[in-house]
Amino acid sequence: KIKNIKARQILDSRGNPTVEVDVITNNNILGRASVPSGASKGENEAIELRDGNIEFLGNGVLKAVHNVNNIIAPELIGKSIMDQLYIDKLILNLDGTKNKRRLGSNAILGVSLAVTKAASKELNIPIYKYIGGIYAHLLPVPLINIINGGKHSDSSIVFQEFMIVPVGANTFFEAIQMGYKVYYKLKEILSKKGLSTNIGDEGGFSSNFNNIEDVLDNILESIHLSGYEPYDQIGIALDCAASEFYKKEKYNYSKFEKIQNNKEKIKKSRKEHVNYLSFLTKRYPIISIEDGMDQNDWDGWKLLTNELGKEIQLVGDDLFVTQVDKLNKGIKEKIANSILIKVNQVGTLTETIETISLAKKNKYNNIISHRSGDTEDSFIADLSVAFNIEQIKTGSVCRSERTSKYNQLLRIEELLGKNSYYSGLFLK
Ligand code: PGA
Ligand code: ZN
Repeated sequence: KIKNIKARQILDSRGNPTVEVDVITNNNILGRASVPSGASKGENEAIELRDGNIEFLGNGVLKAVHNVNNIIAPELIGKSIMDQLYIDKLILNLDGTKNKRRLGSNAILGVSLAVTKAASKELNIPIYKYIGGIYAHLLPVPLINIINGGKHSDSSIVFQEFMIVPVGANTFFEAIQMGYKVYYKLKEILSKKGLSTNIGDEGGFSSNFNNIEDVLDNILESIHLSGYEPYDQIGIALDCAASEFYKKEKYNYSKFEKIQNNKEKIKKSRKEHVNYLSFLTKRYPIISIEDGMDQNDWDGWKLLTNELGKEIQLVGDDLFVTQVDKLNKGIKEKIANSILIKVNQVGTLTETIETISLAKKNKYNNIISHRSGDTEDSFIADLSVAFNIEQIKTGSVCRSERTSKYNQLLRIEELLGKNSYYSGLFLK
């Protein structure tokens, strides 16, 4: 049974305040969870509460902390720690809004995940097994971030994320080893060219490249020089985060005014933008594109899906915001073919699982994901194994809030031993 619940304000990887929740059981078992936060948020994400006062420049989360301690806790104390579904529904009723604006998704998610963690500890079994049962055995392919653009760095590149995908590894351990090698080879290449090797929010380099093709050429070079076969061993994945640069029905490729004045055509119509993504896919070993189009540009999404949907993975992040109704609409209209799963876009474990199940039923790939503002909490690593999900996106092979997830997956692979299976060539 739940004996006590206590929330507090801590700091995330960007130094912004976030919520941490402790759930304590009658046996004095502690379940602790902390909540991530995005920079390029989808319009329809569940609402995270921010205090909006002078402290912490408006970013404090003490209202959400208060809601946990004074509104949610009194309702949950004495309830069984194992009743996740009942507890999640109870909190949702307490909130009573569609987008969780009353209690805040940050308050709600913190409690939901801390309850799961306390329950697994109470039973003395790993989290992935508590959620997924004895058939949880699959280690995901990591989409490892190596270049940060968009809202995640000061780099001039408008696409937000460039990732490498070690599809040809035999184990998760080997996948990390391959990612590490390419990441450091890229660092060497950039250094030699006099480009900055400073990193952005998710641990990828935030150098000032000439353009998108320049980024991809450097990545390809690092794959080759590491001795790997593009496509067969390492693919490339993009997150355009296109909602961030779609303005007045144009995809605006310039992040800064100085490039705006360049001769290159930097404002593309949706057709030109789709053609460019198609061109990139033909020229480089790109196997996945996330948020290729703006979240409200459904005509653009249709165009992109018709153009590339049979060849590569097209992932909806801002488009679906981990929510069943949005995904259902996408399925009906045949938009994209995959979904990014972010626990804080929807706000409880139960709803996250509903979305994952809907995607599986309709043969949309699930990709479990971190946020650009994250914490040392490694819950999503367990979540991916719990549901045998083939892919996880959790940043670069550096920065502790990113490696905490990879490290947990390394532990899980070791723990599963002979029963573990690396999902590997998921796209073939
Ligand atoms: P965010 O970025 O956490 O800043 O939203 C991650 C993503 O867009 O996938
Ligand atoms: Zn995204």
